[in-house]
Amino acid sequence: MRLAYLLQLLPLLCSCFLPPCQAATKDEAYQLHSFLFSSVNYNKNVRPVSNTSLPVDIFMTFSLMSLVEVDEQSQTLITNARVDLYWDDSFLEWLPTDYGGIESILVKQENLWVPDVIVGNSVQAHQQMGFKELPIRLNYDGQLQWSPSVLVATSCEIVVTYYPFDTQKCSIEYETAVSLVSEVDINIYASDPVETQDFSQDGSWKLIDYQAENLSNEDSKAKIRFTLLLERRTTFYVVNIILPTSVLALYLTILLGYTAFSVVVSVLILRLHHKPETEAVGPKFKEFATFIQRITCKRPDHQYESPKARNTVGPGPNDRGLQDEMKPRRSREGVPARDVSRVSEPPVYEEPMTWQKVAQTLDWFCFLLFTTLTLLTTAVCMLTLVLGGAANRPSIR
Ligand SMILES: *[C@@H]1O[C@H](CO)[C@@H](O)[C@H](O)[C@H]1NC(C)=O
Ligand SMILES: *[C@@H]1O[C@H](CO)[C@@H](O)[C@H](O)[C@H]1NC(C)=O
Repeated sequence: MRLAYLLQLLPLLCSCFLPPCQAATKDEAYQLHSFLFSSVNYNKNVRPVSNTSLPVDIFMTFSLMSLVEVDEQSQTLITNARVDLYWDDSFLEWLPTDYGGIESILVKQENLWVPDVIVGNSVQAHQQMGFKELPIRLNYDGQLQWSPSVLVATSCEIVVTYYPFDTQKCSIEYETAVSLVSEVDINIYASDPVETQDFSQDGSWKLIDYQAENLSNEDSKAKIRFTLLLERRTTFYVVNIILPTSVLALYLTILLGYTAFSVVVSVLILRLHHKPETEAVGPKFKEFATFIQRITCKRPDHQYESPKARNTVGPGPNDRGLQDEMKPRRSREGVPARDVSRVSEPPVYEEPMTWQKVAQTLDWFCFLLFTTLTLLTTAVCMLTLVLGGAANRPSIR
């Protein structure tokens, strides 16, 4: 019995600790709307000022949402931006206590006077901001907040001389379409005219600075200019265009490089091979060929023609001239003179170095070089892929 009694009291007890809720009834909301928007009280075609010789002061902030495109070809900047416009409508005030404590309501744009603000430097036909159904917040003191967003293409002089290290200055101008500054004055919302906390960073451009300026002229239309300083993200170009992004792309690029290089080398070797035999091989080429033979461990099966033997055709095993030439040299090296005949017993053939031999040597060297490089690159890239993939496996813990 006691418990049931307590349970009945519980909601009552709880409500004592909750803040008082002044929920307005349906009738009060209806009454407020008919009070504000009756045809006798409100005409949306009338500028909301009590003294018609005064302008309506509009305060504006600019929120950059995203850079959609910076088009160098058509010299345009496409942005998605929202503006917040604040003004006072002295015809739309009420006492919250008379209407169940209602302090603010939302009213559709089509039912209110709104300033004729447009984007002045748009490359498209001017259009009214916002849309019919867009709600505008109305405070009991008559202050309104209208937040239309617009996807707009504005003209901007884009200079690409220093591409991709360029910085561009583009601006978006808001002005009244017809109203004069004496009727509608646009002011920069002093505390924070440009907001960027909603800005979704762009992959290729970085917003480095911004500025708001008052371009209004005493006897013309009100105009506010928001200038954006955009710096091209160079790393985007270096990483995505100059450098390949994946290991596989890098591998294919390197192989393509080898292929192109080997074609050039093949052409050069063919040219050497088909050089006329009458043309002597230069000393540099000889040195180079010998060097390659040495490093590729391809045992030279011939020696080079000595200047004296150049004119002898096919020196035989019993060539006295050759033996005479060898004799003093060996003796000087301390080899007994009687051994000379035995040393030179398998006689050394001094074949002349021909272009064909140079070509053959180079061909062999390049074959070894490209095979090694290709195998090495393949091994390194595949190992990087397999081991790197395993090491950088993301975890969800
Ligand atoms: C309206 O404003 C102007 C300029 O401030 C002023 O000269 C004029 O007296 C005002 N009219 C009324 C009826 O308050
Ligand atoms: C902007 O310039 C106009 C004309 O010079 C001036 O009337 C207005 O007060 C200025 N607004 C601001 C916010 O500086």
